[in-house]
Amino acid sequence: MNVIALNGSPRKKNWNTVSLLEHALAGAASQGAETELVHLYDLKFSGCISCFACKKLDRKKRCVCAVKDDLTPVLERIASADALILGSPIYYGTETAAMRACFERLCFPYNPYAVDWKCEFGRVIPTALLYTMNISEEMIDSFGYRSHFSLMERTMAMHFGTCEVMLCTDTLQYSDYSKYESAKFDGVAKGKRHEEVFPQDCQRAYELGSRMARPLAG
Ligand SMILES: Cc1cc2nc3c(=O)[nH]c(=O)nc-3n(C[C@H](O)[C@H](O)[C@H](O)COP(=O)(O)O)c2cc1C
Repeated sequence: MNVIALNGSPRKKNWNTVSLLEHALAGAASQGAETELVHLYDLKFSGCISCFACKKLDRKKRCVCAVKDDLTPVLERIASADALILGSPIYYGTETAAMRACFERLCFPYNPYAVDWKCEFGRVIPTALLYTMNISEEMIDSFGYRSHFSLMERTMAMHFGTCEVMLCTDTLQYSDYSKYESAKFDGVAKGKRHEEVFPQDCQRAYELGSRMARPLAG
């Protein structure tokens, strides 16, 4: 079994999203999976350019994005992956620009606009969306994020068969709040939460990865 995780944060070391993804992959590895972490911000690629080559009736290959750039080999590896984890910080209520662009390119070629919306990935694989965000759990409803998470969960499930969403809230944005504009936030409380609660989030991510890779063990 191989598990691919995509990091949609521009921050690659020790920060929230990448740490959770690393724990998720460690969980998958604990079940014997081979794992790969792709940093989207290392790649030069675009979102869908609406060429509709993936919908042309006379297309030579189905399920392939015609755009060729740094994302192409990643999409090729995902086509044969056994599990997929997309991790992204929330920027203005949604995925980062890189994750959104990747998501368009990832999903659209598998969607032939069938009458029943059936997609053509061809296998059911475990997928997960892992989101990190500054707001607290209690604020998610009033900020209106819930409907986005549920739409994304359904869309991933429509393309790959299953999807699980994990939310990590109230994250630390910078290590020293006294050095940045942050009147809105209590940096001390944020730091304390990061020390006390974030390790639990990492453990949840580990368990998620382990769960996703479990078919191998069973
Ligand atoms: C440009 C930008 C926009 C952001 N917008 C939101 C937002 O709308 N809601 C939120 O809860 N957090 C927002 N955040 C905070 C990040 O989602 C949060 O700090 C996240 O955990 C960062 O992930 P990272 O540490 O992996 O980079 C924003 C951060 C940036 C840089």
